[in-house]
Amino acid sequence: MKKLLFAANWKLNKNPAQTKFFFEEFKQKLPSHLQEQVIFFPPATNLETTAAALASTSIKWGSQNCYFQTQGAFTGEISAQTIKEMGGHFVLVGHSERRQYFGETDEMMARKVLVAQSVGVTPMLCIGETLEERKANKTNVVLKKQIVEVIKQLAIKAPLVIAYEPVWAIGTGVVAEPAQVLEAHAFIRTTLNEFSFPETLPILYGGSVKGSNAKELGSIPHVNGFLVGGASLEVKSFLEICSV
Ligand code: PGA
Repeated sequence: MKKLLFAANWKLNKNPAQTKFFFEEFKQKLPSHLQEQVIFFPPATNLETTAAALASTSIKWGSQNCYFQTQGAFTGEISAQTIKEMGGHFVLVGHSERRQYFGETDEMMARKVLVAQSVGVTPMLCIGETLEERKANKTNVVLKKQIVEVIKQLAIKAPLVIAYEPVWAIGTGVVAEPAQVLEAHAFIRTTLNEFSFPETLPILYGGSVKGSNAKELGSIPHVNGFLVGGASLEVKSFLEICSV
């Protein structure tokens, strides 16, 4: 049986009080042996509350973004160094919403991944094709570019996690077909192999993951866990995913 990772991307949802309330219930209900497989990405305003709530557990957390400098005159940005000092383990890099709404480029992703690694925080690099790109048979070209533009810059092979999230499956209720997930994950693994990245590097799937589809998706080769948006906001629905 594979040991899957279960990552919750809360996006711009919940305030500190709601965060505290969520974790009180979640910590009670999550079987303790699963703690080390679970990661939360709350909004930056809730990280201190998250750190305090999870301090006595093996549940990990991270920020949804970071800047590629660790300090200085960069108004509004988040320092990966500070995330590390607060006890965070991860940072999301290149979520499709960052690419789409905030104009983040592959070059920026590479710099963010580098800075996260340099301070000892694991970057979770998100990649994925749009519906237009899939329809035009460009999925593999897009995925390869999004990966290679980043990993060719890296001096070290770890820590790193990849999250494959087809843009058309995010928040839409349309989950990718198992065959599509298998093909994409196998392609990502092959690409990582070409650059000598270890087989142990996790590749997560994201996009409308729910309790009802998590078991089947988790059994697909090269799927090492999930990045979950909507279904991670409620204790019950996220626990269903973590219990597959
Ligand atoms: P979703 O979001 O689970 O709501 O589709 C996934 C994500 O954006 O990471």
